[in-house]
Order: sequence, then structure tokens, then C-alpha cells
Amino acid sequence: MQLTLNDGALMPQLGLGVYLVSDGLTCQSVVETALGTGYRLLDTAVMYGNERPVGRGMRASGVPRADIFLTTKLWPSEYGAAKAPAAIGRCLERLGTDYLDLLLLHQPVGDILGTWAAMEDAVAQGTVRSIGVSNFTIADLEQLLPRAEIRPVVNQVELHPYWRQRRLLPFLRTHDIVPEAWFPVGHGSRDLLAEPAIVAIAQRHDKSPVQVILRWHVQSGHVAIPKSTNPVHIRENFDIFDFELDAGELAAIDVLTRNRPIFRMPRWLMSAVFPLVRTRQLN
Ligand SMILES: NC(=O)c1ccc[n+]([C@@H]2O[C@H](COP(=O)([O-])OP(=O)(O)OC[C@H]3O[C@@H](n4cnc5c(N)ncnc54)[C@H](OP(=O)(O)O)[C@@H]3O)[C@@H](O)[C@H]2O)c1
Repeated sequence: MQLTLNDGALMPQLGLGVYLVSDGLTCQSVVETALGTGYRLLDTAVMYGNERPVGRGMRASGVPRADIFLTTKLWPSEYGAAKAPAAIGRCLERLGTDYLDLLLLHQPVGDILGTWAAMEDAVAQGTVRSIGVSNFTIADLEQLLPRAEIRPVVNQVELHPYWRQRRLLPFLRTHDIVPEAWFPVGHGSRDLLAEPAIVAIAQRHDKSPVQVILRWHVQSGHVAIPKSTNPVHIRENFDIFDFELDAGELAAIDVLTRNRPIFRMPRWLMSAVFPLVRTRQLN
């Protein structure tokens, strides 16, 4: 299943995330397994340090580049009109590709407007097809939107049944920005996977709790990028297109929401620390 982004591009609704996959051979292998299973969306980042093995996995899979929707993200240490163009070039070099399907601002700190302008230039040059943001609040988007020539196509944020982003999502809908879920299965939260309502729905459909949560994302209009290094889980997570949750089941998952995200860091700390964090790249 695919969503049409506000720039007309098509984006698969389910992909593979590779955060914390910091062993190169494992990373290459999970990318190959995912593409072999049918995944066509990959989500990496400069910060993850694994763009090179992601690129190798793409090439080893034999899946044509044109069939893959490849996302990476710029880290704040490389933000700014002066640094960002070269940083984008390094992403392309490490991934071994001449274009990115989607480039995101990973964090809403530092020189957002200068970096966004460089990303818009990359779109004009054809090295990047779509651009978006990650971890942006409504206030961050209200700063960016009036100054952007190109509207972000997605906002990648923590999003799962325990943290439904109830204020942000209506705002994104108004601006035709797709919500993309990180921590889609709650970072593997045991509590979430053992929620009685989710377990009961899973039993009814002969599916696993993770499959039910991923199906909830898809039917809720989110893009989801579960991470797994386990080939059985990678295949299981893609096997969600042969069943459907009804309105009652969706509502039973919606009410599980809690009032706080799993990941929390004050903005002052993000602003102070993130631009100083140096990324280490796997060969
Ligand atoms: N933009 C951002 O700031 C940001 C932040 C965090 C994450 N992300 C993106 O979002 C992606 C996903 O986030 P995440 O990896 O932290 O959380 P997640 O996908 O919600 O959860 C991953 C955890 O769930 C487990 N899991 C996956 N499939 C499973 C299954 N079928 N059964 C049981 N357990 C399963 C994985 O273990 P196994 O490996 O053992 O399967 C892993 O421990 C990342 O890889 C990254 O691409 C972005």
C-alpha cells in the first residue's frame, strides 16, 4: 500500500527502519531480507552510521533502485546553508546512489531554515526527490511552513498506540503532511505487545500483536518503519495486507493511549547536545 505525498510522489506505507543496526554485515543482510520479502521503503539516517551497508544491501538484493523508496536524514552537526550541500553529497556517496527519494531534517534544532533551503536546492538539482522533517512540533512547523518554498511531505515522529500525537496529527492533516511513525511498535515495549485488547484482536485474526499494531498504523493513514534484525520478524511484519481491522477494533486500540511518549528529552538539551554529536560511519 502506498500514500500519495503532497508533492505527488508515492510512498510505501510500511518499511524497514535500521536505527541501532550498527553491525555492517547485519545491516546489509536485514536490508536484503526486507527487500527480498517485498519491502520497498528503507529508513536510515546519517546519525545511524549505516548508510554504506544499507546501500550494499540494496545492490545485493537485485531489486532495481527505481523500485526502492530510500530515506535518509541530515544530523544537526551538518545543518546550515554552508554545510548541508556537501552533507547531502556524502549521503549519496555512502548509499551509492545518485538520488534520495526522501531527505529529512532529523531534529528541529540549529539552522533549520538554511538547511531547508539547501534541501530545496537539492530537489531542484534532482539529487533529492522529496523533503520532510522529523521530530517537529506544531510550533516548529509554524516557523518553517511560511518560509518554505517546498512544504514538508512527512513529519517522522514517535507514534504508536501508547502515544498517538493527538494534537500534532490534526495539524499535519490540515497541511497535508503524512505522519510517519518511529517506535511504531513502541520500541518493542512488552507492555504494549501484551495489551489484552491487542492480544484479543490478534487472536481473532490469527495474527501477532505486532502485526495488529502495524495494521492499525496503515489503516490510520500513517507510514510505519518497524526495525528488526530478526528475519522471522521482518517477514512477519510485512504479512499484514491480508486482513483488516474493523472500526471497533481500531477504536479499541485508539483508547490505549497514554499521556506521554516513551522518548523524552527537553528542547534545551537537544539544542545544546545534538549539534555537537559527531556521527561515526560504518565502512
Ligand atoms: N526520526 C527519529 O528521530 C527516529 C527515532 C527512533 C527511530 N526512528 C526510526 O524508526 C525505526 C523504528 O524504531 P525502533 O526500532 O526504535 O522501534 P520499533 O520498530 O517500534 O521496535 C523495534 C523493536 O521491536 C522488536 N520487534 C520488531 N518486530 C517484532 C516482531 N514481529 N515481534 C517481536 N518483536 C519485534 C525489535 O526486535 P528484533 O530486532 O529482535 O525483531 C526491536 O527490539 C528505526 O529503525 C528508525 O528507522 C527514527
